[in-house]
Amino acid sequence: MKTKSFELFKIIEIEINSICNRDCEFCPRYYNRSGIRKDKDGKLVRKQMSSEKVKAIIDEVTSAGFRGKIRFHRLSEPLVDARYLDFVKYASSKGLLVVDHTNGDILKTNPDLCKQLDGLVDEFTIGLYDYSTYKGKQKEIAFWKASSKKQKLHFHCLLNTQIFDRAQKCMIKSIKIPE
Ligand SMILES: C[S@@+](CC[C@H](N)C(=O)[O-])C[C@H]1O[C@@H](n2cnc3c(N)ncnc32)[C@H](O)[C@@H]1O
Ligand code: SF4
Repeated sequence: MKTKSFELFKIIEIEINSICNRDCEFCPRYYNRSGIRKDKDGKLVRKQMSSEKVKAIIDEVTSAGFRGKIRFHRLSEPLVDARYLDFVKYASSKGLLVVDHTNGDILKTNPDLCKQLDGLVDEFTIGLYDYSTYKGKQKEIAFWKASSKKQKLHFHCLLNTQIFDRAQKCMIKSIKIPE
């Protein structure tokens, strides 16, 4: 019998915690009532994956030969977790590329952390959710480019995020941007 080799996955996502400091109407977590991120009454569920478990997953995939990308969220904000820097260092030391997303709030209040992560996180996609004019958007982008010099930056803006229908309606309703 012939055996076929198959490619390992290209990216792993470990949701290190269940919380987010924002509650964006366009985000899939907004209506979550499953008890994973919000309870049946819409209250925030606060859970963390243990550090041992996070590192054990990294150990397991890297010992299987995985050397691809990793991020530390699914539908949460990874930077609200104080262990974030430690996980990034651990993943990098194992040869993984950290490619993460953030709303940027924690980085704005902690320039030291921003510096430490610059380059250690290979790519950051930063959510620009607050601007209301084209000039405001450019100002935000200039701020991030000045604070993160080594890593690759991408920006998710309200109107150019790849979105599904319901979210698109929320986004377009929530903001009007003169271009
Ligand atoms: C769910 S967020 C979690 C990480 C972080 N809190 C943030 O906002 O970047 C991950 C990514 O999903 C994007 N996103 C949020 N709502 C979305 C939607 N309805 N459709 C597609 N992408 C969405 C965000 O812009 C972000 O880049
Ligand atoms: S900041 Fe990110 S995870 Fe939090 S609600 Fe907004 S899009 Fe969702």
